[in-house]
Amino acid sequence: MASALLLVFAVATLGGAGLGAAFDPNPLQDFCVADPTSKVHVNGQPCKDPSTVSAADFFFPGVDKPGGTASHRYGFSALSVDIPGLNTLGASHARVDVTPGGVFPPHYHPRASETAVVLEGAVYFGFVTSYPDNKVFAKVLRKGDVFAVPQGLVHFLHNNGTEPAALYATLSSQNPGLVLLGDALFGSGLPDDLLAKTFLTDTETAGKIGAKFRS
Ligand SMILES: *[C@@H]1O[C@H](CO)[C@@H](O)[C@H](O)[C@H]1NC(C)=O
Repeated sequence: MASALLLVFAVATLGGAGLGAAFDPNPLQDFCVADPTSKVHVNGQPCKDPSTVSAADFFFPGVDKPGGTASHRYGFSALSVDIPGLNTLGASHARVDVTPGGVFPPHYHPRASETAVVLEGAVYFGFVTSYPDNKVFAKVLRKGDVFAVPQGLVHFLHNNGTEPAALYATLSSQNPGLVLLGDALFGSGLPDDLLAKTFLTDTETAGKIGAKFRS
């Protein structure tokens, strides 16, 4: 009896620790504005001297316009909204622009849930639940619509309309991580025969797809 109780306690404790580790830690102060010059490595970035902090540390202008890094392969560009004052506060933001016909292909963020609001245009946006259901929850979103993606689930968007589309995304981690499924599988150097078996196809087809990711 005692050992059974102990086992239940151990499992509950381990489960709790696992759950806790899936979210950013709670802050211990009002803010910890990132000091990008520090050479100290901590969980997040070290804090700037609070007496030197100003409103500019919590500010980022211009997300009404496209910007950031373009992925020509997929037809989107992503602008990371870099706010030093969000350091340690468990959040990050980005503006994503997608050209007509462009996609943000299936991907997931290992450490964050996401909420996205459409600023311009219309997109087909959704996520897929995990095995064994693999159920798609997706909708056509228009300007002013918001959609949420649970942590760690594969999601995508397709601008299948004729106008450029823009979204503003908020993620529940300072460092959400990004795994693009196509790139992770075909652009990583996994052997073609393994990829062929994974996609129930032949090695030649797997090699042909992979070559495009590696070029
Ligand atoms: C975009 O794709 C979705 C899902 O297939 C569809 O419901 C919607 O009508 C499409 N939009 C356009 C503009 O074709």
